[in-house]
Amino acid sequence: MLKEKKTRVPSKNRNGYSPSTLVSVIFSLNGSQATCSIPSSMLLIDLIREEFGLTGTKPGCREGECGACTVLVDGHAVNSCLYLTVNINGKEVTTIEGLTGRDGNLDPVQKAMISKGAIQCGFCTPGMVMSIKSLVNRNKNAKKKMNREEIKKSLEGNLCRCTGYIKIIDAAEAAITKMDEKITEIH
Ligand code: FES
Ligand code: FES
Repeated sequence: MLKEKKTRVPSKNRNGYSPSTLVSVIFSLNGSQATCSIPSSMLLIDLIREEFGLTGTKPGCREGECGACTVLVDGHAVNSCLYLTVNINGKEVTTIEGLTGRDGNLDPVQKAMISKGAIQCGFCTPGMVMSIKSLVNRNKNAKKKMNREEIKKSLEGNLCRCTGYIKIIDAAEAAITKMDEKITEIH
């Protein structure tokens, strides 16, 4: 349900974008309708961080290699550092800030990450959580849920320099396999 309307116009020449060709987009951002006029070459990561102040989405490599900038577009994980903002017109964008419920409750994926001790420095965590959330979405109506190897493969695009991945995969497995239950805590 869309509740609130925001109108944003990007600052001139920020990040080197030319303001000469502005394109209008209307989309949903974390459940609220957003309307903006953006340079046609603007990348989604810059819109999210600099125009909406949602800095939970991290710029890592900015080349599609690390996954730190992952957000959901219509429920699917995308690298926002490669995604042209003009393509979000009419779509639903979810960032890490949008995962927490209005009641302040964390998403089951976030709970699983905490419960499994899958966070160290935290730089990769928002992107990792969004990629796992996209796997949870993919598995929601699947007859057979992904196994550990498939989960590992699917998270190859998200790099973590701290945890060694095992606990992250544990968290992803917990979030995917327990998603049919009414989860309040994952152990
Ligand atoms: S910052 Fe986007 S993939 Fe690394
Ligand atoms: S927790 Fe430090 S990069 Fe993943």
